[in-house]
Amino acid sequence: MARTESQYSAEPADPDRYTATNDRMYTRFARLYDTVVKALPVWRRWLSRAVPEIRGPRVLEVSFGTGWLLTQYAGRYRTDGIDLNSKLTGIARRNLAKAGLSADLRQGRVEELPYPDATFDTVVNTMAFTGYPDGAAAAAELARVLKPGGRLVLIDINFPSDGNRRGTALVEHVWKRLGDLIRDTPALLADAGLDVDVEEIGGWGSVQLYVATKPAA
Ligand SMILES: C[S@@+](CC[C@H](N)C(=O)[O-])C[C@H]1O[C@@H](n2cnc3c(N)ncnc32)[C@H](O)[C@@H]1O
Repeated sequence: MARTESQYSAEPADPDRYTATNDRMYTRFARLYDTVVKALPVWRRWLSRAVPEIRGPRVLEVSFGTGWLLTQYAGRYRTDGIDLNSKLTGIARRNLAKAGLSADLRQGRVEELPYPDATFDTVVNTMAFTGYPDGAAAAAELARVLKPGGRLVLIDINFPSDGNRRGTALVEHVWKRLGDLIRDTPALLADAGLDVDVEEIGGWGSVQLYVATKPAA
């Protein structure tokens, strides 16, 4: 069964309100989020799939949360990170310090990344794209900061391509109810000028890895 347009989420009418509501939730549950990511093998297994796809020397992680994934690769590259939530950013800084690693972490929004065009060889983005209120704007900004030939390594939720019942139920009854906005991510990344490869990596096809390359100039 193919996905239909009607299964995808509409963008929120008030993007600032959507983001502010999510941000309050992340502030409230920041410590719990850190504990869950560290304790949940399946979450770490999904995020780990990004690591072999990363190419340096310059890497940016957008929406790093509590920074578990940063601790898996920051030692190997010149790494920057940006996340909207100040409490999560503080926890990520502490997690990196505990691991004896460093990265230039800032607080900021995916919609206005404070980096010049064509800065990074890889941009990493996990479990965050479906929480942005404007998918096209986010995709364009993620693509803007990539060097020609650079790649966006994005892991997030979508409908399984074969329409299987379990994966579809996870999307409809778990992720959408948590407020995630399910979109035609490959189409949005292609519209941002990227060449997209998709792999279904878990959750009965509902957790997907996108490696989206910016064509060389
Ligand atoms: C579900 S968490 C994912 C965290 C981490 N990447 C992971 O995979 O566990 C979503 C993250 O997106 C961040 N975020 C939400 N809206 C954002 C925005 N507009 N700009 C940048 N980061 C944002 C949140 O603060 C949070 O850290």
